[in-house]
Amino acid sequence: MAEITVTAEREYKVRITGDWRGDLSPFATKRSRVAVIYSATMASSMPNFSFGSAEVVTLEVPDGEAGKSSTVINYLWNKLGEKGFTRSDLIVAIGGGTVTDLAGFAAASWLRGIDWVAIPTTLAGMVDASVGGKTGINSPYGKNLIGAFHSPISVIIDPSWLSTLSDRDFTAGLAEVIKCGFIDDAQILEIIEGKDVAAIRSNGALVVNLIERSVATKAKVVSADFKESELREILNYGHTFGHAIERVSDYSIRHGEAVSIGMVFVAELAASRGLITEQVLRSHREILKAVGLPTSLANIAGSTNWDALYSAIALDKKSRGNSIRFVVLNDIGVCDRIEGVTEEELKATYERVLQ
Ligand SMILES: NC(=O)c1ccc[n+]([C@@H]2O[C@H](COP(=O)([O-])OP(=O)(O)OC[C@H]3O[C@@H](n4cnc5c(N)ncnc54)[C@H](O)[C@@H]3O)[C@@H](O)[C@H]2O)c1
Repeated sequence: MAEITVTAEREYKVRITGDWRGDLSPFATKRSRVAVIYSATMASSMPNFSFGSAEVVTLEVPDGEAGKSSTVINYLWNKLGEKGFTRSDLIVAIGGGTVTDLAGFAAASWLRGIDWVAIPTTLAGMVDASVGGKTGINSPYGKNLIGAFHSPISVIIDPSWLSTLSDRDFTAGLAEVIKCGFIDDAQILEIIEGKDVAAIRSNGALVVNLIERSVATKAKVVSADFKESELREILNYGHTFGHAIERVSDYSIRHGEAVSIGMVFVAELAASRGLITEQVLRSHREILKAVGLPTSLANIAGSTNWDALYSAIALDKKSRGNSIRFVVLNDIGVCDRIEGVTEEELKATYERVLQ
């Protein structure tokens, strides 16, 4: 269907295709060993893999954030060691963003980096996590604190995976799509505006269009700044507060749901500093709410504990030194950063997203 080139660390293609198995084959058949890593939910959708004379090792990992742990990465390292994986072997990650983050990190760390292919099966995985080479696991001290930049050799997006995705996970993925609209491609917002999740999901061509647009934004940004010296930070729009919410809620809400609230939070922060208009602020709440994403902390476990949230914000890796740094908008598609935000200012903003 479509092919988008990324040039970050290496050049690779993100293919949006109707045949993930056919597209995977050329990358796998020339290897001696191929590890296919997938989560329990995907187990029943896994075919019998056969790639020429390659020994295929299938490895099931826990679903969701529970998989992004030191215990699970240790399990993968042991399996790769037991099977004698060498630098010329391959890891294939099939699953949501948690699986591509985890399996990508196994590929990044095994023998200081072996090839991997990402096959995302969630909307969040397709439009965000699988593209750009950020891999990693969580630490008890925070989300994604351990990891490495290691680009895949290919990303294969087959939208047919989405047919089994729950509405909740599809909607969570829309948060990253809408983020791309706010930071870069305003047409995404125009396409989504006035539509609820059912209207989006039932229109396959529209979903593919949104995937293509979001991947194009991500590919452009990571190709210009692979290791996040500055530009790439814009992809973290809404994520500093979002990661803190995920942590205090003990990962009981989806990443995209937390990012949705995080975008409203940072829009409130920008509006209070006069950086964006009331209309841009309002458009955040309207568009996110219309697709069914949360725009406030109401009913979010742990979120009434400001001290815990503040510690999590301060620990997020987007803080530099002791200064808390946020990506903000000056307008739709125009990003900026603010630093040195005080706890008082943050708390006042928090109070505006409580209900
Ligand atoms: N590396 C990056 O640049 C980057 C970017 C964005 C997000 N992320 C990470 O991605 C993760 C979020 O990704 P996610 O939302 O895909 O979460 P996820 O991997 O937990 O998947 C969500 C749920 O969907 C299920 N699932 C996956 N594919 C399915 C399918 N085809 N049909 C039915 N169910 C399916 C999973 O089992 C899981 O229960 C977070 O850990 C986040 O930090 C990473």
